[in-house]
Formats: sequence, structure tokens, C-alpha cells
Amino acid sequence: MTRVGTSGLHDGLNGSGGQLLSATYIQADGSETTIEAPDGTSIMQAAITNGVPGILAECGGAASCATCHVYVDEAWLERLPLMGDDENEMLDCTAAERRPNSRLSCQIELSSDLDGIVVRMPETQS
Ligand code: FES
Repeated sequence: MTRVGTSGLHDGLNGSGGQLLSATYIQADGSETTIEAPDGTSIMQAAITNGVPGILAECGGAASCATCHVYVDEAWLERLPLMGDDENEMLDCTAAERRPNSRLSCQIELSSDLDGIVVRMPETQS
């Protein structure tokens, strides 16, 4: 497992005073990366900022490309924010199969409820 983060501090705070929360990304080949990012950072942005492969995010987080598709680990599904109509429609356009736990990672922000969330990358985003 690779563990990286946006701060070398381990006091749970970053430079802006926001709490650092963790997320784990599991690639299609099974390799895992756990990162830390400030509260309010999208799962997509946290991956991009930390160089985690597997998310393209071509639209920059506007819920209009579906290249940030992830499969959310079952244990976290009930804690997710409700899916908006835009996200639901875009999930019909994913390159990889849509599953019941499919979400757009740009539409999920890290919060204390989601600290430690685990997502799996699809085989392809395009
Ligand atoms: Fe384009 Fe999420 S980054 S839909």
C-alpha cells in the first residue's frame, strides 16, 4: 500500500486549519493508495492532487464527463450524499460498466462521516 498526503503533519490539521481526512483508492489491478486531504475536498480532486492514477476528470468536476467514475466500497454507501440528477444521468455514460455502487468522485466531498472511505477504480475511464 502506498500512503501519501498533502501534509507532512500528523496532527490532523493542514495549513488552512481544515481537518485532514483519508481516502483509499484501489486500482483495477488491486494496488492501493491511501491519501490525506482537507475536509471538503472531492474524492476526485484528492486523487488528482496526490497523483493517484485512474481518474481523468476531463470536465474538472462539473459532473459532465463521467471520467471520474468510481465504485464505492459497500461499507460506505449509506454515508454518501444523495445523488443528483446530473450525476445520475452522467453515470449512464461511463466507459466501464455502471454498477449499483457507481458514483462520480467529483460529486463526493470528504467529510468526517467519510473519513477513511474506500473506492475502487474501474478498468477504464475512456
Ligand atoms: Fe467530470 Fe466528475 S470530473 S464528471
